[in-house]
Amino acid sequence: MPILLVTGSSGLIGSEVCRFFAREDFAIHGVDNNQRACFLGSAGDTRWNQARLGKEIPNFVHHELDIRDRQGVLDLLAKIKPDGIIHTAAQPSHDRAAAIPFDDFDTNAVGTLNLLEAARRACPESPFIHMSTNKVYGDRPNTLALKELETRWDYADKAYEHGIAEDFSIDQSTHSLFGASKVAADVMVQEYGRYFRMPSCVLRGGCLTGPNHSGVELHGFLSYLVKCNLEGKEYRVFGYKGKQVRDNIHSEDVARFIHSFFHAPRVAEVYNLGGGKDNSCSLLEAFKLAEKFSGKPMKYSYVDESRIGDHICYYSDLRKMKAHYPNWAITKSLEQTISEIVESWKTRIS
Ligand SMILES: NC(=O)c1ccc[n+]([C@@H]2O[C@H](COP(=O)([O-])OP(=O)(O)OC[C@H]3O[C@@H](n4cnc5c(N)ncnc54)[C@H](O)[C@@H]3O)[C@@H](O)[C@H]2O)c1
Repeated sequence: MPILLVTGSSGLIGSEVCRFFAREDFAIHGVDNNQRACFLGSAGDTRWNQARLGKEIPNFVHHELDIRDRQGVLDLLAKIKPDGIIHTAAQPSHDRAAAIPFDDFDTNAVGTLNLLEAARRACPESPFIHMSTNKVYGDRPNTLALKELETRWDYADKAYEHGIAEDFSIDQSTHSLFGASKVAADVMVQEYGRYFRMPSCVLRGGCLTGPNHSGVELHGFLSYLVKCNLEGKEYRVFGYKGKQVRDNIHSEDVARFIHSFFHAPRVAEVYNLGGGKDNSCSLLEAFKLAEKFSGKPMKYSYVDESRIGDHICYYSDLRKMKAHYPNWAITKSLEQTISEIVESWKTRIS
């Protein structure tokens, strides 16, 4: 039975990947120590998802391991020699990182290095798939010419009509400490690919979302926005008139891409993995969609100051992914995704 190692297995993407590969009779080894609750507080706790995996997947083995524990990571990979490594564990919040810079860098950058080196020693032929972020581009997308529409910003330059592609510069811009620690990991994964010829890829996520997200104000905007809507709680908009644009991809479509790459791996590839223009929305547009599916009015307030390094308009150019993996496409529309998030929160907060 092939073995898959998934770090961050109790999180949004990690858990989806575990469930996806379990359908193909993989033995799944999950690594997660619920660090999310330490980073983001009890609302960010992912134990519920860990328990669900244990119930749903017969061949699931949980490892209560911190990826910062270098010897623990080296020992685990030497022992199980996985056929694939999907690395989704991270300090995920752009805003939180400034308060916990050592934890952020040690987890995102050094934790990734621990896993790469452990993989090189134990199973260099196994695909290594790393979740990066569009924050590696820093706030450079904000230097693009924009046009202001009634409910959103959009790119004014035709060159970006399909969104931001992978050759966009990651240099000389404000990233947030989170963006910078993710740059270190992103480049290190590419380096282990090119230098050691290890099959590897970096997925620079837009907004990854879905019904299993434990969204909080500091991370997971769509999940948190829907939760606020259902609870009648005020959502705070930070700057850009609420017209800031994010592209949203359902975690199942993320898992499907990871699966495609795993079965036809390449070396040191980089992909911008988001919902693309079709699944993009501004905050104002997201409010309307949440109201449509919940039937409840959205309460929000406006803070006239944007988050440091926050994008005004970002959507991923998906053409490279589609060219390399023509059988992959987005299958969940933004509306479907939001309706699933509404239904999931209804059961989780009741
Ligand atoms: N969700 C998004 O919108 C988004 C966007 C862009 C990129 N990403 C990236 O995708 C990846 C997955 O994101 P997600 O939304 O599933 O995150 P998540 O927070 O839902 O899950 C991450 C999991 O990793 C675990 N973890 C954190 N630090 C750990 C450590 N030191 N040792 C062991 N486990 C640890 C957490 O407990 C959590 O369960 C991350 O790398 C994130 O930066 C996410």
